Amino acid sequence: MGTARAALRNQVRWAILHRGVRTYGSLQTRRGDPLARFLFAPGARANPYPVFDDVRARGRLVETKLMHVTVDHALATGILRDSQTFGVAFSDVQGVPRFVSWAFQAPDPEIASPVDAPSLLAVDPPEHSRYRRLVTRPFTPKALQKVADRVEERAIELLDGLAGKRRVDIVDEYADQLPVAVIAEILGVPADMHAQFLAWGHAAAPVLDLGLSHKQYTAVNQALRGMNQWFDEHFANLRRKPGDDILSQLVNADPDERLTDLELRATALLLLGAGFETTVNLLGSSVAVLAPDEKSRARLAAEPDLWPQAVEELLRFESPVQLTGRVAWKDTEVDGVEIPKGTAIISLLGGCNRDPNVFDNPDVFDLDRPNSREHVAFSGGIHYCLGANLAKMEGQVGLRMLFERFPDLELAPHGGVQHDMQALRGYRSLWVDLND
Ligand code: HEM
Repeated sequence: MGTARAALRNQVRWAILHRGVRTYGSLQTRRGDPLARFLFAPGARANPYPVFDDVRARGRLVETKLMHVTVDHALATGILRDSQTFGVAFSDVQGVPRFVSWAFQAPDPEIASPVDAPSLLAVDPPEHSRYRRLVTRPFTPKALQKVADRVEERAIELLDGLAGKRRVDIVDEYADQLPVAVIAEILGVPADMHAQFLAWGHAAAPVLDLGLSHKQYTAVNQALRGMNQWFDEHFANLRRKPGDDILSQLVNADPDERLTDLELRATALLLLGAGFETTVNLLGSSVAVLAPDEKSRARLAAEPDLWPQAVEELLRFESPVQLTGRVAWKDTEVDGVEIPKGTAIISLLGGCNRDPNVFDNPDVFDLDRPNSREHVAFSGGIHYCLGANLAKMEGQVGLRMLFERFPDLELAPHGGVQHDMQALRGYRSLWVDLND
Protein backbone atom coordinates (compact mmCIF):
# COMPACT_ATOMS: atom_id res chain seq x y z
CA MET A 1 0.00 0.00 0.00
CA GLY A 2 2.84 2.34 1.00
CA THR A 3 4.64 1.56 -2.25
CA ALA A 4 1.49 2.07 -4.31
CA ARG A 5 0.85 5.43 -2.64
CA ALA A 6 4.47 6.49 -3.24
CA ALA A 7 4.19 5.48 -6.91
CA LEU A 8 0.97 7.49 -7.28
CA ARG A 9 2.54 10.51 -5.59
CA ASN A 10 5.51 10.21 -7.95
CA GLN A 11 3.18 10.04 -10.96
CA VAL A 12 1.16 13.08 -9.85
CA ARG A 13 4.25 15.20 -9.12
CA TRP A 14 5.76 14.26 -12.49
CA ALA A 15 2.54 15.21 -14.27
CA ILE A 16 2.46 18.61 -12.52
CA LEU A 17 6.15 19.43 -12.85
CA HIS A 18 7.04 17.98 -16.22
CA ARG A 19 4.24 16.67 -18.41
CA GLY A 20 2.68 20.06 -19.18
CA VAL A 21 5.90 21.76 -20.13
CA ARG A 22 6.99 18.69 -22.13
CA THR A 23 3.80 18.68 -24.22
CA TYR A 24 3.84 22.47 -24.66
CA GLY A 25 7.56 22.40 -25.51
CA SER A 26 6.99 19.78 -28.22
CA LEU A 27 4.15 21.84 -29.70
CA GLN A 28 6.28 25.00 -29.75
CA THR A 29 9.18 23.04 -31.24
CA ARG A 30 6.95 22.08 -34.18
CA ARG A 31 5.99 25.75 -34.53
CA GLY A 32 9.69 26.70 -34.74
CA ASP A 33 10.11 28.42 -31.36
CA PRO A 34 13.91 28.68 -30.97
CA LEU A 35 14.22 27.97 -27.23
CA ALA A 36 11.75 25.08 -27.49
CA ARG A 37 13.83 23.73 -30.38
CA PHE A 38 16.99 23.89 -28.28
CA LEU A 39 15.30 22.16 -25.33
CA PHE A 40 13.10 19.61 -27.09
CA ALA A 41 14.06 18.99 -30.73
CA PRO A 42 15.74 15.58 -30.97
CA GLY A 43 18.43 16.85 -33.39
CA ALA A 44 19.49 19.68 -31.07
CA ARG A 45 21.45 17.26 -28.86
CA ALA A 46 23.76 16.16 -31.62
CA ASN A 47 24.01 19.61 -33.17
CA PRO A 48 22.71 22.66 -31.25
CA TYR A 49 24.68 25.12 -33.37
CA PRO A 50 22.01 25.83 -36.05
CA VAL A 51 19.59 26.65 -33.21
CA PHE A 52 22.09 29.14 -31.76
CA ASP A 53 22.41 30.72 -35.23
CA ASP A 54 18.62 30.97 -35.44
CA VAL A 55 18.45 32.74 -32.04
CA ARG A 56 21.27 35.09 -33.10
CA ALA A 57 19.47 35.95 -36.33
CA ARG A 58 16.38 36.99 -34.34
CA GLY A 59 18.23 39.48 -32.12
CA ARG A 60 20.38 39.96 -29.07
CA LEU A 61 17.51 39.19 -26.68
CA VAL A 62 14.70 37.03 -28.03
CA GLU A 63 11.27 36.62 -26.44
CA THR A 64 10.05 33.05 -26.96
CA LYS A 65 6.93 31.10 -25.97
CA LEU A 66 8.85 29.69 -23.01
CA MET A 67 11.25 32.37 -21.72
CA HIS A 68 13.55 35.10 -23.03
CA VAL A 69 16.79 33.76 -24.48
CA THR A 70 20.16 35.08 -25.60
CA VAL A 71 23.31 33.81 -27.33
CA ASP A 72 24.92 37.25 -27.19
CA HIS A 73 28.18 37.09 -25.23
CA ALA A 74 28.17 40.70 -24.01
CA LEU A 75 24.50 40.64 -23.05
CA ALA A 76 24.75 37.34 -21.18
CA THR A 77 27.88 38.44 -19.35
CA GLY A 78 26.15 41.66 -18.31
CA ILE A 79 23.12 39.77 -16.96
CA LEU A 80 25.21 37.15 -15.12
CA ARG A 81 27.35 39.83 -13.47
CA ASP A 82 24.45 42.06 -12.43
CA SER A 83 23.30 40.44 -9.20
CA GLN A 84 21.62 43.71 -8.15
CA THR A 85 19.04 43.21 -10.92
CA PHE A 86 19.06 39.45 -11.58
CA GLY A 87 18.90 36.45 -9.25
CA VAL A 88 18.17 32.74 -9.33
CA ALA A 89 14.72 32.60 -7.65
CA PHE A 90 13.02 30.58 -10.40
CA SER A 91 10.13 29.69 -8.09
CA ASP A 92 8.95 33.32 -8.62
CA VAL A 93 9.06 33.32 -12.43
CA GLN A 94 6.27 35.45 -14.00
CA GLY A 95 4.94 35.98 -17.51
CA VAL A 96 5.06 32.32 -18.58
CA PRO A 97 2.27 29.71 -18.77
CA ARG A 98 1.51 28.33 -15.28
CA PHE A 99 2.90 24.86 -16.06
CA VAL A 100 6.22 26.38 -17.15
CA SER A 101 6.63 28.02 -13.73
CA TRP A 102 5.61 24.75 -12.02
CA ALA A 103 8.52 23.07 -13.77
CA PHE A 104 10.89 25.00 -11.52
CA GLN A 105 9.56 23.51 -8.29
CA ALA A 106 11.76 21.03 -6.41
CA PRO A 107 11.30 17.40 -7.59
CA ASP A 108 10.59 16.42 -3.99
CA PRO A 109 10.65 19.08 -1.24
CA GLU A 110 11.79 16.53 1.35
CA ILE A 111 15.12 15.82 -0.33
CA ALA A 112 18.03 18.11 -1.16
CA SER A 113 18.82 18.60 -4.84
CA PRO A 114 21.67 20.52 -6.48
CA VAL A 115 19.29 22.88 -8.29
CA ASP A 116 16.92 23.84 -5.49
CA ALA A 117 17.48 26.06 -2.47
CA PRO A 118 19.46 25.77 -0.27
CA SER A 119 21.95 24.66 -2.97
CA LEU A 120 24.46 27.40 -3.84
CA LEU A 121 23.23 27.39 -7.42
CA ALA A 122 19.69 28.26 -6.36
CA VAL A 123 20.16 30.90 -3.66
CA ASP A 124 20.79 34.64 -3.86
CA PRO A 125 22.77 36.81 -1.45
CA PRO A 126 22.98 36.99 1.52
CA GLU A 127 22.58 33.16 1.81
CA HIS A 128 24.70 32.64 -1.28
CA SER A 129 27.64 34.64 0.13
CA ARG A 130 27.44 32.72 3.43
CA TYR A 131 27.45 29.25 1.85
CA ARG A 132 30.06 30.10 -0.77
CA ARG A 133 32.49 31.51 1.83
CA LEU A 134 32.30 28.21 3.73
CA VAL A 135 33.34 26.04 0.77
CA THR A 136 35.88 28.02 -1.26
CA ARG A 137 39.08 26.99 0.53
CA PRO A 138 39.77 23.58 -1.12
CA PHE A 139 39.29 25.10 -4.59
CA THR A 140 41.79 28.00 -4.47
CA PRO A 141 44.78 27.71 -6.86
CA LYS A 142 47.11 27.24 -3.86
CA ALA A 143 45.08 24.35 -2.39
CA LEU A 144 44.88 22.77 -5.83
CA GLN A 145 48.66 22.59 -6.25
CA LYS A 146 48.63 19.56 -3.95
CA VAL A 147 45.77 17.96 -5.87
CA ALA A 148 47.63 18.11 -9.23
CA ASP A 149 49.98 15.27 -8.24
CA ARG A 150 47.02 13.10 -7.25
CA VAL A 151 45.31 13.77 -10.59
CA GLU A 152 48.48 12.57 -12.36
CA GLU A 153 48.75 9.47 -10.17
CA ARG A 154 45.13 8.55 -10.75
CA ALA A 155 45.47 9.17 -14.51
CA ILE A 156 48.51 6.85 -14.61
CA GLU A 157 46.58 4.10 -12.79
CA LEU A 158 43.68 4.40 -15.21
CA LEU A 159 45.92 4.49 -18.29
CA ASP A 160 47.85 1.45 -17.04
CA GLY A 161 44.49 -0.31 -16.86
CA LEU A 162 43.89 0.46 -20.56
CA ALA A 163 47.24 -0.87 -21.76
CA GLY A 164 46.88 -3.88 -24.03
CA LYS A 165 43.23 -3.17 -24.85
CA ARG A 166 42.36 -2.53 -28.48
CA ARG A 167 39.01 -0.73 -28.44
CA VAL A 168 37.57 0.95 -25.31
CA ASP A 169 34.72 3.22 -24.29
CA ILE A 170 36.94 6.11 -23.21
CA VAL A 171 34.08 7.75 -21.28
CA ASP A 172 33.41 4.67 -19.19
CA GLU A 173 37.02 3.70 -18.62
CA TYR A 174 38.71 7.10 -18.31
CA ALA A 175 36.65 10.32 -18.59
CA ASP A 176 34.13 9.08 -15.99
CA GLN A 177 36.69 7.70 -13.58
CA LEU A 178 39.21 10.52 -13.21
CA PRO A 179 36.99 13.41 -11.98
CA VAL A 180 34.96 11.30 -9.54
CA ALA A 181 38.14 10.00 -7.90
CA VAL A 182 39.54 13.53 -7.56
CA ILE A 183 36.44 15.25 -6.15
CA ALA A 184 35.68 12.30 -3.85
CA GLU A 185 39.18 12.53 -2.42
CA ILE A 186 38.85 16.30 -1.87
CA LEU A 187 35.53 15.76 -0.11
CA GLY A 188 36.69 12.69 1.85
CA VAL A 189 34.18 10.33 0.20
CA PRO A 190 35.56 6.76 0.38
CA ALA A 191 36.92 5.13 -2.79
CA ASP A 192 34.53 2.18 -2.54
CA MET A 193 31.66 4.64 -3.18
CA HIS A 194 32.97 5.91 -6.57
CA ALA A 195 30.96 3.48 -8.69
CA GLN A 196 27.78 4.10 -6.69
CA PHE A 197 28.20 7.88 -6.95
CA LEU A 198 28.82 7.67 -10.69
CA ALA A 199 25.59 5.71 -11.07
CA TRP A 200 23.66 8.15 -8.86
CA GLY A 201 25.28 11.18 -10.56
CA HIS A 202 24.40 10.02 -14.07
CA ALA A 203 20.83 9.18 -13.07
CA ALA A 204 20.37 12.54 -11.28
CA ALA A 205 22.02 14.80 -13.91
CA PRO A 206 18.75 15.49 -15.85
CA VAL A 207 17.53 17.30 -12.71
CA LEU A 208 18.90 20.42 -14.45
CA ASP A 209 16.46 20.00 -17.37
CA LEU A 210 12.86 20.96 -18.12
CA GLY A 211 10.10 18.54 -19.14
CA LEU A 212 11.62 15.22 -18.05
CA SER A 213 10.09 11.94 -19.15
CA HIS A 214 8.42 9.93 -16.39
CA LYS A 215 11.30 7.45 -16.51
CA GLN A 216 13.94 10.18 -16.14
CA TYR A 217 12.02 11.87 -13.32
CA THR A 218 11.70 8.61 -11.38
CA ALA A 219 15.39 7.82 -11.84
CA VAL A 220 16.37 11.36 -10.75
CA ASN A 221 14.30 11.06 -7.57
CA GLN A 222 15.63 7.63 -6.68
CA ALA A 223 19.21 8.77 -7.16
CA LEU A 224 18.74 11.99 -5.17
CA ARG A 225 17.08 10.01 -2.39
CA GLY A 226 19.97 7.53 -2.31
CA MET A 227 22.54 10.33 -2.13
CA ASN A 228 20.60 12.19 0.60
CA GLN A 229 20.44 9.06 2.70
CA TRP A 230 24.10 8.23 2.21
CA PHE A 231 25.23 11.76 3.10
CA ASP A 232 23.09 11.77 6.27
CA GLU A 233 24.84 8.60 7.42
CA HIS A 234 28.22 9.96 6.35
CA PHE A 235 27.68 13.20 8.31
CA ALA A 236 26.78 11.18 11.41
CA ASN A 237 30.11 9.33 11.03
CA LEU A 238 32.00 12.60 10.53
CA ARG A 239 30.47 14.00 13.71
CA ARG A 240 31.85 11.00 15.61
CA LYS A 241 35.14 10.74 13.73
CA PRO A 242 36.04 13.84 11.70
CA GLY A 243 38.56 13.58 8.85
CA ASP A 244 40.83 16.21 7.34
CA ASP A 245 38.36 17.32 4.65
CA ILE A 246 35.90 20.10 3.88
CA LEU A 247 32.78 18.06 4.77
CA SER A 248 34.20 17.24 8.24
CA GLN A 249 34.84 20.97 8.73
CA LEU A 250 31.30 21.88 7.66
CA VAL A 251 29.69 19.24 9.85
CA ASN A 252 31.71 20.25 12.91
CA ALA A 253 31.72 24.03 12.32
CA ASP A 254 31.23 26.54 15.17
CA PRO A 255 27.56 26.95 16.10
CA ASP A 256 27.35 30.42 14.46
CA GLU A 257 28.56 28.98 11.11
CA ARG A 258 26.87 25.59 11.32
CA LEU A 259 24.60 24.51 8.47
CA THR A 260 21.30 22.67 8.92
CA ASP A 261 21.10 19.04 7.76
CA LEU A 262 19.30 20.08 4.57
CA GLU A 263 21.92 22.78 3.86
CA LEU A 264 24.71 20.26 4.46
CA ARG A 265 23.20 17.71 2.10
CA ALA A 266 22.51 20.32 -0.60
CA THR A 267 26.08 21.61 -0.40
CA ALA A 268 27.71 18.18 -0.42
CA LEU A 269 25.50 16.96 -3.26
CA LEU A 270 26.29 20.00 -5.40
CA LEU A 271 30.05 19.88 -4.76
CA LEU A 272 30.21 16.21 -5.56
CA GLY A 273 27.83 16.21 -8.54
CA ALA A 274 29.19 19.42 -10.12
CA GLY A 275 32.67 18.05 -9.46
CA PHE A 276 32.31 15.12 -11.84
CA GLU A 277 29.18 15.38 -14.03
CA THR A 278 30.63 18.37 -15.90
CA THR A 279 34.33 17.49 -16.12
CA VAL A 280 33.46 14.07 -17.56
CA ASN A 281 31.91 15.93 -20.48
CA LEU A 282 34.92 18.20 -20.92
CA LEU A 283 37.15 15.14 -21.20
CA GLY A 284 34.81 13.13 -23.46
CA SER A 285 34.00 15.98 -25.88
CA SER A 286 37.68 16.94 -26.02
CA VAL A 287 38.67 13.43 -27.10
CA ALA A 288 36.00 13.61 -29.82
CA VAL A 289 37.40 16.97 -31.05
CA LEU A 290 41.10 16.14 -30.83
CA ALA A 291 41.18 12.50 -31.95
CA PRO A 292 40.47 13.29 -35.63
CA ASP A 293 42.45 16.59 -35.59
CA GLU A 294 45.96 15.38 -36.40
CA LYS A 295 47.36 18.88 -36.85
CA SER A 296 46.36 20.09 -33.37
CA ARG A 297 47.56 16.85 -31.78
CA ALA A 298 50.96 17.13 -33.46
CA ARG A 299 51.28 20.71 -32.15
CA LEU A 300 50.32 19.62 -28.63
CA ALA A 301 52.78 16.71 -28.71
CA ALA A 302 55.59 19.05 -29.79
CA GLU A 303 54.56 21.94 -27.49
CA PRO A 304 52.94 20.50 -24.32
CA ASP A 305 52.89 24.01 -22.81
CA LEU A 306 49.98 24.62 -25.17
CA TRP A 307 47.64 22.33 -23.15
CA PRO A 308 46.22 25.13 -20.93
CA GLN A 309 45.34 27.10 -24.09
CA ALA A 310 43.91 23.94 -25.68
CA VAL A 311 41.61 23.37 -22.71
CA GLU A 312 40.33 26.98 -22.83
CA GLU A 313 39.57 26.56 -26.53
CA LEU A 314 37.91 23.17 -25.91
CA LEU A 315 35.71 24.72 -23.19
CA ARG A 316 34.71 27.43 -25.66
CA PHE A 317 34.21 25.10 -28.61
CA GLU A 318 32.18 22.33 -26.90
CA SER A 319 30.87 23.87 -23.67
CA PRO A 320 30.00 21.13 -21.15
CA VAL A 321 27.29 23.32 -19.55
CA GLN A 322 25.10 24.72 -22.28
CA LEU A 323 22.85 27.11 -20.41
CA THR A 324 22.00 28.98 -17.26
CA GLY A 325 19.15 31.26 -16.32
CA ARG A 326 18.46 34.37 -14.28
CA VAL A 327 15.24 36.02 -13.09
CA ALA A 328 14.80 39.81 -12.86
CA TRP A 329 14.45 40.97 -9.24
CA LYS A 330 12.82 44.20 -10.42
CA ASP A 331 11.45 45.90 -13.53
CA THR A 332 14.40 46.67 -15.78
CA GLU A 333 15.49 47.07 -19.40
CA VAL A 334 17.89 44.89 -21.38
CA ASP A 335 19.13 46.11 -24.76
CA GLY A 336 16.13 48.43 -25.06
CA VAL A 337 13.61 45.65 -24.23
CA GLU A 338 11.40 46.14 -21.18
CA ILE A 339 11.91 43.32 -18.70
CA PRO A 340 9.24 43.20 -15.98
CA LYS A 341 10.09 41.85 -12.53
CA GLY A 342 9.96 38.04 -12.50
CA THR A 343 11.04 37.63 -16.17
CA ALA A 344 13.39 34.68 -16.75
CA ILE A 345 16.25 35.02 -19.23
CA ILE A 346 18.12 31.94 -20.41
CA SER A 347 21.72 32.46 -21.50
CA LEU A 348 22.75 29.70 -23.90
CA LEU A 349 26.41 29.58 -22.87
CA GLY A 350 27.39 27.27 -25.72
CA GLY A 351 25.93 29.80 -28.17
CA CYS A 352 27.59 32.79 -26.45
CA ASN A 353 30.88 30.94 -26.90
CA ARG A 354 30.26 30.97 -30.68
CA ASP A 355 29.44 34.70 -30.81
CA PRO A 356 31.18 36.08 -33.93
CA ASN A 357 31.37 39.55 -32.34
CA VAL A 358 33.84 38.11 -29.83
CA PHE A 359 35.38 35.07 -31.55
CA ASP A 360 36.53 35.24 -35.20
CA ASN A 361 35.42 32.16 -37.18
CA PRO A 362 33.72 30.85 -34.04
CA ASP A 363 32.85 27.45 -35.53
CA VAL A 364 36.53 26.61 -36.04
CA PHE A 365 38.56 24.91 -33.31
CA ASP A 366 41.73 26.99 -33.27
CA LEU A 367 44.67 26.41 -30.93
CA ASP A 368 46.04 29.84 -31.85
CA ARG A 369 42.90 31.75 -31.00
CA PRO A 370 44.11 34.76 -28.99
CA ASN A 371 41.03 35.15 -26.78
CA SER A 372 39.71 31.61 -26.13
CA ARG A 373 39.73 32.29 -22.39
CA GLU A 374 36.99 34.91 -22.81
CA HIS A 375 34.52 32.01 -23.01
CA VAL A 376 31.61 31.86 -20.56
CA ALA A 377 31.70 28.07 -20.10
CA PHE A 378 31.96 28.63 -16.34
CA SER A 379 29.24 31.33 -16.31
CA GLY A 380 30.01 34.67 -14.63
CA GLY A 381 29.31 36.89 -11.63
CA ILE A 382 28.68 35.53 -8.16
CA HIS A 383 27.79 32.00 -9.35
CA TYR A 384 30.98 31.70 -11.44
CA CYS A 385 32.00 28.04 -11.21
CA LEU A 386 33.67 27.31 -7.90
CA GLY A 387 35.54 24.38 -9.44
CA ALA A 388 36.81 26.15 -12.59
CA ASN A 389 40.50 25.89 -11.65
CA LEU A 390 40.10 22.26 -10.67
CA ALA A 391 38.23 21.42 -13.88
CA LYS A 392 40.86 23.11 -16.05
CA MET A 393 43.66 21.30 -14.25
CA GLU A 394 41.90 17.94 -14.66
CA GLY A 395 41.37 18.72 -18.34
CA GLN A 396 45.00 19.66 -18.92
CA VAL A 397 46.51 16.74 -17.02
CA GLY A 398 43.93 14.16 -18.08
CA LEU A 399 44.04 14.95 -21.81
CA ARG A 400 47.81 15.46 -22.03
CA MET A 401 48.48 12.13 -20.34
CA LEU A 402 45.94 10.27 -22.45
CA PHE A 403 47.36 11.52 -25.76
CA GLU A 404 50.96 11.08 -24.59
CA ARG A 405 50.27 7.46 -23.67
CA PHE A 406 48.21 6.68 -26.77
CA PRO A 407 49.46 9.07 -29.49
CA ASP A 408 47.75 7.08 -32.27
CA LEU A 409 44.34 6.92 -30.58
CA GLU A 410 41.48 7.33 -33.05
CA LEU A 411 37.70 7.32 -32.91
CA ALA A 412 36.16 3.92 -33.61
CA PRO A 413 33.58 3.85 -36.44
CA HIS A 414 30.10 4.92 -35.19
CA GLY A 415 31.75 5.45 -31.80
CA GLY A 416 29.82 8.14 -29.94
CA VAL A 417 26.46 8.45 -28.18
CA GLN A 418 25.59 11.91 -26.84
CA HIS A 419 23.72 12.41 -23.58
CA ASP A 420 20.04 13.13 -24.02
CA MET A 421 20.15 16.23 -21.82
CA GLN A 422 19.53 19.96 -22.23
CA ALA A 423 21.89 21.68 -19.80
CA LEU A 424 24.82 19.26 -19.97
CA ARG A 425 26.51 18.45 -23.27
CA GLY A 426 28.80 15.48 -23.72
CA TYR A 427 29.13 11.82 -24.53
CA ARG A 428 27.45 8.98 -22.71
CA SER A 429 29.87 6.66 -24.46
CA LEU A 430 32.71 7.22 -26.92
CA TRP A 431 34.49 4.23 -28.40
CA VAL A 432 38.10 4.68 -29.47
CA ASP A 433 40.84 2.44 -30.89
CA LEU A 434 43.94 2.89 -28.77
CA ASN A 435 46.35 1.62 -31.48
CA ASP A 436 48.88 0.94 -28.72
C1 HEM B 1 34.40 21.51 -17.15
C2 HEM B 1 33.88 21.41 -15.96
C3 HEM B 1 32.90 22.38 -15.38
C4 HEM B 1 32.05 23.25 -16.01
C5 HEM B 1 31.88 23.49 -17.50
C6 HEM B 1 31.30 23.92 -14.98
C7 HEM B 1 30.35 24.91 -15.21
C8 HEM B 1 29.70 25.61 -14.23
C9 HEM B 1 28.75 26.67 -14.48
C10 HEM B 1 28.32 27.15 -15.87
C11 HEM B 1 28.33 27.14 -13.28
C12 HEM B 1 27.41 28.31 -12.99
C13 HEM B 1 25.96 28.10 -13.26
C14 HEM B 1 25.20 29.40 -13.11
O1 HEM B 1 25.72 30.49 -13.35
O2 HEM B 1 24.01 29.33 -12.82
C15 HEM B 1 28.99 26.35 -12.26
C16 HEM B 1 28.78 26.51 -10.92
C17 HEM B 1 29.36 25.69 -9.98
N1 HEM B 1 30.32 24.72 -10.18
FE1 HEM B 1 31.10 24.17 -11.94
N2 HEM B 1 31.70 23.46 -13.75
C18 HEM B 1 32.68 22.52 -13.95
C19 HEM B 1 33.38 21.83 -13.00
C20 HEM B 1 33.19 21.96 -11.64
C21 HEM B 1 33.95 21.26 -10.63
C22 HEM B 1 35.12 20.32 -10.88
C23 HEM B 1 33.44 21.62 -9.45
C24 HEM B 1 33.95 21.12 -8.14
C25 HEM B 1 33.53 21.38 -6.99
C26 HEM B 1 32.34 22.57 -9.68
C27 HEM B 1 31.55 23.17 -8.74
C28 HEM B 1 30.63 24.16 -8.97
C29 HEM B 1 29.84 24.80 -7.92
C30 HEM B 1 29.87 24.48 -6.45
C31 HEM B 1 29.05 25.75 -8.55
C32 HEM B 1 28.03 26.70 -7.91
C33 HEM B 1 28.68 28.02 -7.65
C34 HEM B 1 27.72 29.06 -7.12
O3 HEM B 1 26.50 28.99 -7.37
O4 HEM B 1 28.21 29.96 -6.43
N3 HEM B 1 32.23 22.75 -11.04
N4 HEM B 1 29.82 25.44 -12.87
